[in-house]
Amino acid sequence: MRTNFNTNRRDFMIRAATLSVVMPTLDACASFGNEQDTPLPSGFGPHSTAAEVTAGIDLGGKTALITGCDAGTGYETLRVLTLRGAHVYALSRTLEKAEAACASVTGPGVKGDATPFACEHTDFASIEACADSIRKLGSTIDILICNAGVYGLPKLELVDGIEKHFVINHLAHFILVNRLLDPVKAARQGRIVIVGSDAAFKQAPDAGIEFDNLSGQHSYTPSKAYGQSKLANGLFALELARRLSRTGTIANVVHPGWVMTDRMHSFLLENQVNPEAAEKVIKTPSQGAATICYVATNGAVQKANGQYFEDCNVAIPGGHMRDTAMASRLWAVSEDLTRDYLIQAAH
Ligand SMILES: NC(=O)c1ccc[n+]([C@@H]2O[C@H](COP(=O)([O-])OP(=O)(O)OC[C@H]3O[C@@H](n4cnc5c(N)ncnc54)[C@H](OP(=O)(O)O)[C@@H]3O)[C@@H](O)[C@H]2O)c1
Repeated sequence: MRTNFNTNRRDFMIRAATLSVVMPTLDACASFGNEQDTPLPSGFGPHSTAAEVTAGIDLGGKTALITGCDAGTGYETLRVLTLRGAHVYALSRTLEKAEAACASVTGPGVKGDATPFACEHTDFASIEACADSIRKLGSTIDILICNAGVYGLPKLELVDGIEKHFVINHLAHFILVNRLLDPVKAARQGRIVIVGSDAAFKQAPDAGIEFDNLSGQHSYTPSKAYGQSKLANGLFALELARRLSRTGTIANVVHPGWVMTDRMHSFLLENQVNPEAAEKVIKTPSQGAATICYVATNGAVQKANGQYFEDCNVAIPGGHMRDTAMASRLWAVSEDLTRDYLIQAAH
């Protein structure tokens, strides 16, 4: 996860000591090492890897799509889905990055294939062009994974007047899903997986989405802005699931866990946190991609719609994550903000 923290070291040490501000869920993860053998209903848990949860699953003939394919959990998910035989549409900010990711996960011994696309989330025309190129290929989409995201932008940044976490993490995916919903619905059992976070209820504003502050101009903190964007991910999945309830398509939201991505590693070093100690409470990218891959591919998930998953199992989220009225309002506001880029007003 991109973590542009501007926290100075002293602040960080205080915060890390209380385990409550920079990484508010670390305390919740602290018992992670002790509970690894606790059986969970799916048979998988916090230490399962993407390769383990997809072992024996043949994705030959399936088409998947993932945003943010070049790094972290997105890259690992791309790698494992192609390994299991899927043809993956791999989206990245630039075509060069997407091409490099595709080249490194395909080749001899890999059953699947990967096709690169450029999709810059701060440029809605880029999302529109990407989605339309994909639609022109004429394939159904069995699995659509909204994964790309940013975290902890230290200063308020705006995209067309809207706060940047909200744009990249939520509105961009709202447009992409809107423009590709028909090919997902045309698949026999289409699945939409929204990569959210438990930050949705641990860091979001107390009142939920601040509809009167989507510009961030009234108040801005990186942690709350990220939490709000992740709450938007959860509410988007909830409302999407409601709208899909009479179709064969499902939509769910996933918390991958706190994951040791490149940026997380640099952040720990910058702040002189012992990476070995941190590794005990932070997942590897392969463990982080496990819940995404589980929800995207496991047969048992087909009956789950509008659910929140952690550690490869359904979990009960807190905060406003189940607030259907807020989800409905978010949908309407998102439509207003992206109207020029949507192909249909509503599904
Ligand atoms: N890592 C964690 O601890 C953690 C915890 C909870 C939830 N998550 C969620 O997991 C997802 C993946 O995060 P990660 O940890 O794998 O992070 P990462 O390693 O930083 O990867 C993020 C991906 O998003 C892409 N991205 C960023 N800005 C973009 C933009 N403007 N347009 C298009 N793509 C953009 C990045 O592209 P570039 O490489 O070009 O920047 C990269 O491919 C995110 O939704 C994140 O919120 C992560």
